[in-house]
Amino acid sequence: MTTPKLWLVIPAAGSGQRMGSDRPKQYLLLRGRLILDRAIASVLDNADLAGCVVAISADDPHWQETEASRDPRVHHCIGGQLRADSVIAGLQWLEGQAGPDDWVLVHDAARPCLHPGDLARLIRELTDHKVGGLLAAPVTDTLKKSVTGSDEVLETVDRRELWRALTPQMFRYGILKSALQDAAAENRSVTDESSAVEQAGFFPCIVEGRPDNIKVTVPADLALADFVLSRF
Ligand code: CTP
Ligand code: MG
Repeated sequence: MTTPKLWLVIPAAGSGQRMGSDRPKQYLLLRGRLILDRAIASVLDNADLAGCVVAISADDPHWQETEASRDPRVHHCIGGQLRADSVIAGLQWLEGQAGPDDWVLVHDAARPCLHPGDLARLIRELTDHKVGGLLAAPVTDTLKKSVTGSDEVLETVDRRELWRALTPQMFRYGILKSALQDAAAENRSVTDESSAVEQAGFFPCIVEGRPDNIKVTVPADLALADFVLSRF
């Protein structure tokens, strides 16, 4: 049996509604470098990849501004309406190159603070796994569940078995592609790769990651990401 290859898919076709800036947030500068370039480099420079594809939106005028667009290791394809559609587009781009047992890392374009140690641990811990898994951080706040449609607290939820899902998520190519395609065909909502794989009946493996691997979502996250990177 040949050693499975490792591929990278970066969904970068979002418009950044919650950030509300004049360009999609992945094209904002963070400590002098585009967020998208930081996210790509955080994986590309720290893993032995067979290839990398970035899913961008069809009318994206900013891709040419990236360092990544000039990097011969990086390819791009056109993403879709939802994040999952963009990931599917990336997986389809890999069709014919990636084998069913190859690994695919999926990493958000808006997550520029991935620590190389977390990436290395994710890859190491999943090497012999049949399905794959994800970086996740334990929940630290006390969690409340409210009464449906009300602001009253119904109960306190036990947080010991709860995790915040991060990226990269790393799955076998064949399993991930059919799980995402089936979810799309049946109109099931999936917000990350793991949820599609869970819905397909598998049990992804949690690899504990640093809580500061944040997704830049609202303007305040820019200052936070700047701070995190200053401490690397
Ligand atoms: N994404 C994508 N294709 C979409 C939607 C999102 O590739 N149709 C990507 C984003 O570019 C981002 C990642 O998925 O890298 C995580 O999504 P999110 O943080 O929700 O980004 P946006 O959808 O751009 O932001 P918002 O939801 O605030 O509009
Ligand atoms: Mg979104």
